[in-house]
Amino acid sequence: MKKNGFNRRKFLFSSAGMALGAACFPLLKAGAAWAPPRGRKRKVALVGTGIRGSSTWGRTLIQRYSDCLEMVGLCDINPKRMAYAKRFMGARCPTFTDFRKMIHETEPDTVIVTTTDCFHAKYICLAMNMGCDVITEKPLATDEKMAQKILDSKRRTGRNLIVTFNYRYGPAAVKIKEILLSKEIGDVTSVDFNYYLDVYHGASYFRRWHGFKQFSGSLLVHKATHHYDLMNWWLDAEPVEVNAIGELRKYGHNGVFRGLRCMTCPHQRKCEFFWDITREQHLMNLYVKAEDEDGYIRDSCVFRNEINIWDTMNVQVQYHNRVTMSYSLNAFMPYEGYVVGFNGTQGRLDARIYHNQPWRTDSLAEFRVTQNFKKTQTFRIKSREGGHWGADRIMQDRIFHGVESDPLGQAASLRDGILSILTGIAARRSIEQERPFKVEELIKI
Ligand SMILES: NC(=O)c1ccc[n+]([C@@H]2O[C@H](COP(=O)([O-])OP(=O)(O)OC[C@H]3O[C@@H](n4cnc5c(N)ncnc54)[C@H](O)[C@@H]3O)[C@@H](O)[C@H]2O)c1
Repeated sequence: MKKNGFNRRKFLFSSAGMALGAACFPLLKAGAAWAPPRGRKRKVALVGTGIRGSSTWGRTLIQRYSDCLEMVGLCDINPKRMAYAKRFMGARCPTFTDFRKMIHETEPDTVIVTTTDCFHAKYICLAMNMGCDVITEKPLATDEKMAQKILDSKRRTGRNLIVTFNYRYGPAAVKIKEILLSKEIGDVTSVDFNYYLDVYHGASYFRRWHGFKQFSGSLLVHKATHHYDLMNWWLDAEPVEVNAIGELRKYGHNGVFRGLRCMTCPHQRKCEFFWDITREQHLMNLYVKAEDEDGYIRDSCVFRNEINIWDTMNVQVQYHNRVTMSYSLNAFMPYEGYVVGFNGTQGRLDARIYHNQPWRTDSLAEFRVTQNFKKTQTFRIKSREGGHWGADRIMQDRIFHGVESDPLGQAASLRDGILSILTGIAARRSIEQERPFKVEELIKI
């Protein structure tokens, strides 16, 4: 396939192809993530047809970006889930349980990886080695060995890779970046960053594969990769040393009773975490009706004794530019969002961002900028409509339709993907080995 694929691309780069290309991609401007194939739509294949793959990277792509891309193949280990996901997406392409077969038969330009986290690296490397560019969901990988393999594949093949850090496109995150760049508070010296997951969203991680380090790398990788990436981007910094403490205080073995799953649990009436999946037909179709294929139970008990991730985490990070960060992640809070404070040589920036709150239905960010010896300025901004405060759409428009320029440097590279997971992996190792962990002990970029 590789040989034919390259030959075909070379042919399409000829003058006829170039003319057709200009007509087909009027929206693609300079600064796009990468140039489109000349003379035809980008051929995209997707691996991992769960909730994220079938919605944000499946149905949305087909409905919104068919002007420039064509979904040519779907792959998943669960054929029943994949069959339903295909109908849900409105896709007309073939489906595969064998990834290599999909690449050989459909010859995609780009592979989108939306599997369980621990399999991202495998598919990223396979796709690159078979001549494809890659768009991958976060986290890039769940341990340092996988990260090294991805780096090696990228060096060997030269293929493009985008890590979809949608949080960089949220209005509050952008505002923080702009304030820091303006130097209103001078140079940042240290940061206090506290992230809160609530008893709905936070608990959902403990019902699913995310509750196991071997699948998710723990919430320090799966979830905090977003937060560490934001911090690397906000501060224009790279992590050097990490020291962390982690505890499991609410879920897992802490429960006073437990069942296998909510649907059949004898404790339904007294459990505050009871969640009735039968009320959500889409999830019934995607997961419950496909259970007999892979045994994956989507409404597992949050109090399973086997859960081995933490729900209460504190992490200290030192960055290469002498900034330090004190970070916490708590997964059973009454509301969701984050509080971040940047201490600068000329003042302080405080931001409180609430996502799901009992007292408001919308998402809100409150800012306070205080320059030393001056009055405080306060203001609020609201989120946009759409997935992740409107961020998903902005990011996808940029990836598929291109942008004039990227003044804030929001497009995330392989390096950004690796740096963001290294903080989480080092934090995990620090907790396990009860010592500070240097990032260079993990990998050399
Ligand atoms: N950026 C974001 O805001 C965001 C939001 C949600 C999820 N995600 C990411 O998207 C990915 C998918 O999450 P999800 O919630 O859809 O999970 P999910 O469990 O619903 O879907 C994962 C899919 O991968 C399939 N799969 C598992 N192992 C596989 C393998 N070896 N080969 C092929 N397919 C395999 C499963 O059968 C399932 O269909 C995760 O990496 C997650 O971190 C990102």
